[in-house]
Amino acid sequence: MHIGRMLIMTLILGLFGQFYANAEQPLKLEAKEGFYQFPFFDTQTAVWSYNDQIPGPLIRGRVGTTLVIDFANRLKEPSSIHWHGLRIENAMDGVPGVTQDPVGPGENFTYRLKLEDAGTFWYHPHFNSSEQLERGLKGVFIVEEAEKQPWSQDWVWLMDDWLFQKDGTIYPHFNTGRDLMHDGRWGNAPTINGNFRPEYQAKPGERIRLRIINGANARVFSPHIEGLSANIIAVDGRPVTKIFVLDRFVLSPGNRIDLDIRIPEQSGGKIFIVEDRFTRKAFELASIKVDQSEPIKSPKFIPPTEANFIPAQMFEKVKGEKTWDLNAIRGGKFGIGWTMNQKLWPDADKVDYPLGLPRKIIFKNNSSRLHPMHIHGVFFRVLERNGQKAVEQFTRDTVLVGPRESVTIGFVPEHTGIWLTHCHIQEHAEAGMMTTIEVKN
Ligand code: C2O
Ligand code: CU
Repeated sequence: MHIGRMLIMTLILGLFGQFYANAEQPLKLEAKEGFYQFPFFDTQTAVWSYNDQIPGPLIRGRVGTTLVIDFANRLKEPSSIHWHGLRIENAMDGVPGVTQDPVGPGENFTYRLKLEDAGTFWYHPHFNSSEQLERGLKGVFIVEEAEKQPWSQDWVWLMDDWLFQKDGTIYPHFNTGRDLMHDGRWGNAPTINGNFRPEYQAKPGERIRLRIINGANARVFSPHIEGLSANIIAVDGRPVTKIFVLDRFVLSPGNRIDLDIRIPEQSGGKIFIVEDRFTRKAFELASIKVDQSEPIKSPKFIPPTEANFIPAQMFEKVKGEKTWDLNAIRGGKFGIGWTMNQKLWPDADKVDYPLGLPRKIIFKNNSSRLHPMHIHGVFFRVLERNGQKAVEQFTRDTVLVGPRESVTIGFVPEHTGIWLTHCHIQEHAEAGMMTTIEVKN
């Protein structure tokens, strides 16, 4: 690759659009066809994007405020926007056929989002999702804490994974037998914010907040930073119960982590490599370059934790649980269907829960594939894996259920409405692996 082109890429990335929003100034998100210059090719690649940006604009709002977002669908097919992880009014959740009508080509829809929780979230379509996300429709949504945070930098990395053909076009067949027999569509070009192996600049002594979002259709990441100490301070947008060291944390599609990274005062001139270690073949994702400047005094503070948020003890007396059996069958739209209790969406085995009572769910994977299971509009706690107590030091909205594994989770329905529950491997979801939890007052 050309040095010149690399410089231009870095410049473009530096400018990659940010929105600071509030209710008085609605944001406009326009889904449309366009082009993007990836660093891999000499030609531009046809993509679908929000506001002509890959990834879509980084949205920042403050906790407690209401954001208004005008969505304009300028694609040739229906779409919608789902705000992954945000606890919002059900009517704003962006699921066609469940919480709203699909937004047709040329139509608009106004989302009003009351920001209840501060943290790292993201947004993406919920219609023909395996194709719409893969073609580029996704963006990060940060809800800022009420007070200014003490980190010197706040980096946001939206991980993606593109499947390109040699001519620089996106492989145009979706939900293929190959995707469906495996763990969805894995690509051949991992990117961070649309860039390849970006280099980030730091100063000795800095403390940096790094938010990592897995926005890929199917690829699982497990980021590792060689030589640097990094603590996980939030998972799936929510402060952890107890801060812990980043060590083989598995970031499945949908998951987010917030890291507290300390750049040692004695590390001027060093380059730290961030690599992915999920598969047997580790590869570089990005690098962090420390400049030669005078060390800055590393700020001393303890990031917030949430010891009392849906503690595991809350579920000790809960009797009975819902079990969803995850498996594949022949049939469905694509010849291979992914089921929850033998049913394919929209003919799903749904569940009704009353408001406010702790509930347990078991995701029982009877297949040998991966299923990152996601529930809309709630945070849950992992209680057991394969029947063994496995309390995690954090809550989640997406949990990876491995081959033949069974995962028990606990949560408290706190918002009424119909909340979608599905595998976040987009191809599995499109092939039927979705259902709903209806919460009634
Ligand atoms: Cu990212 Cu239905 O979710
Ligand atoms: Cu799956």
